Amino acid sequence: MKIAVTGGLGFIGSAVIRLLLGSSPSEGEGPHEPVEPVEPVDVRTRVMNIDKVTYAATTGSVASVAESPFYHHVEIDIADGPALRDAFARFEPDAVIHLAAESHVDRSIDGPDAFVRTNVVGTYELLQAARFEAERRNVLDSFRFVHVSTDEVFGSLGLDDAPFDETTAYDPRSPYSASKAASDHFVRAWHETYGLPTIITNCSNNYGPFHFPEKLIPLMILKAVAGQPLPVYGRGDNIRDWLYVEDHARAIVSALRRGEPGETYAVGGNAERTNLDVVQTICDQVDVELGDEVGGRRELIEFVADRPGHDLRYAIDSAKIRRELDWVPSTDFADGLARTVRWYLDSEWWWRPLLSERYDGQRLGVAVAS
Ligand code: NAD
Ligand code: TYD
Repeated sequence: MKIAVTGGLGFIGSAVIRLLLGSSPSEGEGPHEPVEPVEPVDVRTRVMNIDKVTYAATTGSVASVAESPFYHHVEIDIADGPALRDAFARFEPDAVIHLAAESHVDRSIDGPDAFVRTNVVGTYELLQAARFEAERRNVLDSFRFVHVSTDEVFGSLGLDDAPFDETTAYDPRSPYSASKAASDHFVRAWHETYGLPTIITNCSNNYGPFHFPEKLIPLMILKAVAGQPLPVYGRGDNIRDWLYVEDHARAIVSALRRGEPGETYAVGGNAERTNLDVVQTICDQVDVELGDEVGGRRELIEFVADRPGHDLRYAIDSAKIRRELDWVPSTDFADGLARTVRWYLDSEWWWRPLLSERYDGQRLGVAVAS
């Protein structure tokens, strides 16, 4: 199968590519160590990684597959329709897994333009390119377009509400979630109107290796290691449902191979935690790993001004994907978080240049007009 993966230099896209190409996922290979070409899980798998290389892209995240003859990267903006169509005509994909996006809520508050351009216009251009390519080769029925979306399109849950599932009405509240909701609607429209076999996944918050250090978990790990204040928005009582990234990658590949066109699958980690609980656990884990007195780093926690429009709670009921695609999240949150902390401690080669060249950990998303 020839698969075009968009956003494959990002956090989740790189995990999908490593899984597709049979690389052992994340055990801290350095960027300069020679990496043996790996055999893909299915020897017929070929991957074209379409990634514009934004601030969020890292080649280190695909270092383990970069030399594989089954992998190549093309530097294309998904909002560039002609470039996409040209790449598709050359590669002749059987499927698209679409992950390219602007993904950070706080950045969407500071600068929503890029979110509309990539998440909305880019998804539209990608749908058109996939449709024209499938029609050109007369493979519309067998083609697959997997669109990776978020539970944030469903809005915010109260503490006593049932978790989101595939029937939950859309109610996005941030510029990020509004742009993702728009993209989901376009994807569904291309299925209904043009017969493009699309599948949508809406998943909860991911965590794990190669997560850009603007997001809660990696930011708190690196600040805790450096002994810096840990900024918790509001009172830290917002709740997220944490999903280990490699479990999510398996869900996406299951949706590609066995998902029903036109269907949506909600994917969650079954691990609801308050932000304060997550940050305290990170503090204790870092204390343990560095041999310091457990509890000491909790003193670094600082409650700071809340995010504007901060959604209280996200949670997912994954019964459908468990039942229909036989997928379960296999990583317990405590194990996954401990593994993630160890990965960051072992992988300074990956994150140090990001902190010095791209993002130094400053507060984002306070809605000050620029
Ligand atoms: P990320 O920010 O780590 O990576 C995004 C990648 O997309 C980067 O490599 C970037 O260079 C690329 N990209 C951005 N704009 C592009 C463009 N115009 N053209 C081509 N490439 C472009 O994101 P992520 O966390 O890996 O998220 C991947 C997908 O999963 C996104 O669609 C996101 O909305 C969705 N999602 C993420 C989470 C999460 O917890 N991270 C949860 C639910 C859904
Ligand atoms: P984030 O990782 O940005 O994901 P999302 O906003 O998509 O859920 O944030 C996760 C939670 O952590 C969210 O409730 C906001 C909160 N948060 C903080 O309290 N402090 C921080 O420095 C960051 C980045 C996030």
